[in-house]
Amino acid sequence: ASADTVRIVEVGPRDGLQNEKGIIPVETKVELINRLSSAGLRTIEAGSFVSPKWVPQMAGTSEVLSRIKQLPGVHYPVLVPNQKGLDNLFASSASLTDEIAIFAAATDEFSTANLNVTVRESLERFAPVARAARDKGYRVRGYVSVVIACPYSGAVKPESVRNVAKELVEMGCYEVSLGDTVGMGIPHQVSAMLEEVQKDVPVQRLAGHFHDTYGTAIANVFAALASGVRTIDSSVGGLGGCPYSPGATGNVATEDVVYALQNSPYKLEGDIDLQKLVEIGWWINKELGRDNVSRAGRALRAK
Ligand code: HMG
Ligand code: MG
Repeated sequence: ASADTVRIVEVGPRDGLQNEKGIIPVETKVELINRLSSAGLRTIEAGSFVSPKWVPQMAGTSEVLSRIKQLPGVHYPVLVPNQKGLDNLFASSASLTDEIAIFAAATDEFSTANLNVTVRESLERFAPVARAARDKGYRVRGYVSVVIACPYSGAVKPESVRNVAKELVEMGCYEVSLGDTVGMGIPHQVSAMLEEVQKDVPVQRLAGHFHDTYGTAIANVFAALASGVRTIDSSVGGLGGCPYSPGATGNVATEDVVYALQNSPYKLEGDIDLQKLVEIGWWINKELGRDNVSRAGRALRAK
């Protein structure tokens, strides 16, 4: 891929659905993933092997993985919080996906709410999980949550993000996605945070993951691009939210990112069909009984 190729990691089927209260049928999740791959997306987060007591919506992930139509060249990563999650993934069939994501945080307060352990304990727990997955040939992606602000402890120091990102790379993560979980960040904070993290992690290994609570997500995407980041997480129809970040809204909408990057000096990886994404955004929001918050989605539908 050329230096200006931007990779999109679609997180709608995981981040987008995990916070929904009503139970979403497996068929709907399968159809969402299949539609997204047929729209040209090459990395689609398919679900999580987390505790169903903590996040009930992700309970059916192994069934989802076994029922989707897996297209060649498309990755379908799943979140794994601990050894038990990895055991469940392996038990359901090691060939269902080739990628897991482990997810740490920049603050103990968020880590304890999300994983029931401190940051240090979570990293100690993730290290053998990453090793076991890599031994079986899986790619491992890392997340750092609350990279700008924490819903429980306020402003987050960029040094804390840097330290956790560095450890995730040392554990073998091919990439670390930096999450503004709360969706409060502004572009200049994103730039400053990335400058600090880059002291330890090359920018080629960083991704941006922006929630849009304050409407700054697309601006933050461009701040990250200006800092050299070339992987952006997004969610079709702007779905999403974290159960442990009260009040936070969805991720930046995939349609909005694609609209803003097409016909620009950046090149999108693969052959992404914006109009198909717009239709998917409308369809899934209707299934969920939600308003479509994608601005490009609304504008292009109205045309
Ligand atoms: P715990 O309660 O401390 O776990 O939770 P435990 O080890 O004490 O086990 C308690 C029970 O859960 C036991 O069952 C275990 O077997 C079971 P019981 O004996 O009571 O019947 N259990 C599991 N079941 C299925 N799969 C598992 C699993 N592990 C234990 N993997 C735990 C610790 C990590 C499990 C819990 O805190 C958890 O599942 N957390 C996940 C939370 C989550 O999914 N959050 C959302 C994703 S992160 C996110 O959205 C942020 C991101 O988008 C980036 C950003 O925006 O910042 C990625
Ligand atoms: Mg998120």
